[in-house]
Amino acid sequence: MLGAGVGETAGLAETSGAAEGAGNPRPAAESNPETSADLVFFTSASGYTGRFVEKLGREAGRIPLHTSAPTLIAHSPYVLILPTYGGTAEQPGAAARGAVPKQVIKFLNVEQNRSLIRGVIGAGNTNFGENYCLAADIIAVKCKVPVLYRFELMGTSEDVATVNQGLEEFWTHQSQKPA
Ligand SMILES: Cc1cc2nc3c(=O)[nH]c(=O)nc-3n(C[C@H](O)[C@H](O)[C@H](O)COP(=O)(O)O)c2cc1C
Repeated sequence: MLGAGVGETAGLAETSGAAEGAGNPRPAAESNPETSADLVFFTSASGYTGRFVEKLGREAGRIPLHTSAPTLIAHSPYVLILPTYGGTAEQPGAAARGAVPKQVIKFLNVEQNRSLIRGVIGAGNTNFGENYCLAADIIAVKCKVPVLYRFELMGTSEDVATVNQGLEEFWTHQSQKPA
């Protein structure tokens, strides 16, 4: 669990109950976590992106780590922060396949989530050369949103300040756009 400001939000109301009268109730189906935050992120078990988001000190919705878990449902326009998991630096050609974590694909396969994305920030490692933050570029093209920033690993304090200021300006600009 990440620290303050980076909590996962409450789940949806349960819609399917346990089997009635069977004396052997089914476990309740796990419900989707939800968020109304204007920042959504994915971080893997290594947690670098999560640490960056923690340093931002902003409310953020987390895409579940396990693909088998019900995905996050977004309710407000958001900027997505995600790392790239492509090929190895020695095999850069392999990076384009699977660069976007499958947990993020599952999240963006939800039409509501796709319709609310407004921008993307990439996390990566410059050792991957031309594939640095490739997942952000792929999502930008597919969802027709801008890549707002790229940073390495857990980011520097300068990255944190730049992203925080950039997000303030971005959302101010968005709110002034005609509907
Ligand atoms: C197997 C593997 C493949 C990776 N491929 C890329 C890549 O193609 N491009 C890139 O910029 N970073 C790549 N990275 C670096 C990660 O994106 C980077 O470490 C990121 O900070 C991980 O974030 P996370 O800890 O939140 O999952 C790769 C890392 C691993 C372990």
